[in-house]
Amino acid sequence: MPFRIFELERWQSDFEHAVEFNLADSSVKGAPLAEVLPPDEIDRFLTIELGYPMVNGTEVLRQRIASLYPGAAPANVLVTVGGAEANQIACQTLLGPGDRVALMEPGYRQVYGLAEAQEATVDPFRLDPGNGWRPDLDQLAAIVGPGTKMIALVNPNNPTGMILTPEERHRIVAIAARVGAWILADEVYRGGERYSDDETPSFWGEYDRVIAVNSLSKAYGLSGLRIGWLVAPSSVYDDIWRRHEYTVISAAAPSMRLAELALSPAIRPKLIARQRALSRAGWELMDRWLSENFDLVSVAASEATSMAFVRYHLPIDSVRLADEIRRRSSVLVAPGVYLGAEDHLRITHGVGRSIVEPALDRIGSVLRELRTRRPVAHT
Ligand SMILES: Cc1ncc(COP(=O)(O)O)c(C=O)c1O
Repeated sequence: MPFRIFELERWQSDFEHAVEFNLADSSVKGAPLAEVLPPDEIDRFLTIELGYPMVNGTEVLRQRIASLYPGAAPANVLVTVGGAEANQIACQTLLGPGDRVALMEPGYRQVYGLAEAQEATVDPFRLDPGNGWRPDLDQLAAIVGPGTKMIALVNPNNPTGMILTPEERHRIVAIAARVGAWILADEVYRGGERYSDDETPSFWGEYDRVIAVNSLSKAYGLSGLRIGWLVAPSSVYDDIWRRHEYTVISAAAPSMRLAELALSPAIRPKLIARQRALSRAGWELMDRWLSENFDLVSVAASEATSMAFVRYHLPIDSVRLADEIRRRSSVLVAPGVYLGAEDHLRITHGVGRSIVEPALDRIGSVLRELRTRRPVAHT
C-alpha cells in the first residue's frame, strides 16, 4: 500500500529553510539548550555513555512521565522519537485492513495517512467553524459503528486551538465504549492553553482503551530533542514496543537525559511558562493584526496553541495563496487544506515579536495586493 504524501510536512520540508520568516511551524521558538541543562548538570551530562540506552526509555524518564498521568505506572510509558513515532507505532499496532477510524477534522493529518497505509478506512468527524470549532458529536455518534477500531483526536486541537470540554470528553468516551473502540488521544498541546494556567486533562484514566500521546515539542518548546511518548495499557504495551524496536530501537541517550531534566520539578514549570509567554504575547500581535485586517481575515475561536487558523476572505485556494505569500514576501504559512479545511491558513505566532510582527505585515500586504487584482479562481 503506497504511503500518501504527508502534504503539510512536505510543504514545510520543502520551504521552511528557504524563507526569511517561517510561520508554518507548529511549535514556539525552540528553547536554548541552556534552559534545560543548568551549569551544575554539565559535568554529569558529559559523562553520558553513548551506548544504547534502555530502549523503552530510562527508568527516571518513564517515572517522570508516569507522574503526569493519574494512575499510570512507568510500565505504561514508552519513550519514542517524538509524538510522531508514538502515533505511528500505535496505528501500526491497532489498525489493519477493513478497520475504520473516526478522526477529528480539521487536524494534524498524520493519523489520517497512517490509517490509510494500514488499509483502514477514515471516517472524518468535523469541528464546526460556525460554532467556535466545537466537535459535531452527533456526527461522531452516527459514524462510529461495530467496525470502528479507533477514534483519533488531537486535544487541544492543531490547527484550531479548540479544547474539548469535560462533557465532550465524556461523550466521546461513551461513544467509544459503545463499540469497544480505542481512543488515540494526541495531547501534544496540553500545557498550551491561552486563557488558563490549568493544563487540559488527559484522556488517560477516563476509559480502559486509551493511548495517550505527548512529546516535548510543543508545550515545552523542545522539538529538537525529538522526544515523545505514549501511555498505554498493559494489554497492548508489548505489541507497541515491538514496533518501536523495528522502527528506531530507542530514542537517543543524550536526549533522554535532557528530557529527564526538562520534566524535573525545577525545570518543567519554567519551560511551560516560557512557552505560554511566547504563545500569549504572539496571540496579542495576531489579534491586533486580525482586527486591523478584519475585511480580509478572521478567526472563529482559539483557546490554545501558538497558532491561529485564519479564515481569509479572498477567492483563491489555500495552497495557491500560501504559495503567493511565500513567493512575494518570503514568509511561509501552512495551507489550510493540508489540515482538512480549505479557505484557511495556519499561521504561527509563538516565535517572537521580531519575527511575527514583520511577517504578519508582509502577509497583510500580499492579501491587499491580491484583493485589488482580478479574482484568482480556485484550482
Ligand atoms: C498534533 C501533533 N501530533 C504530533 C506531532 C509530531 O510532533 P513531534 O514528533 O515533534 O512530537 C505534531 C507536529 O506538528 C502535531 O501537531
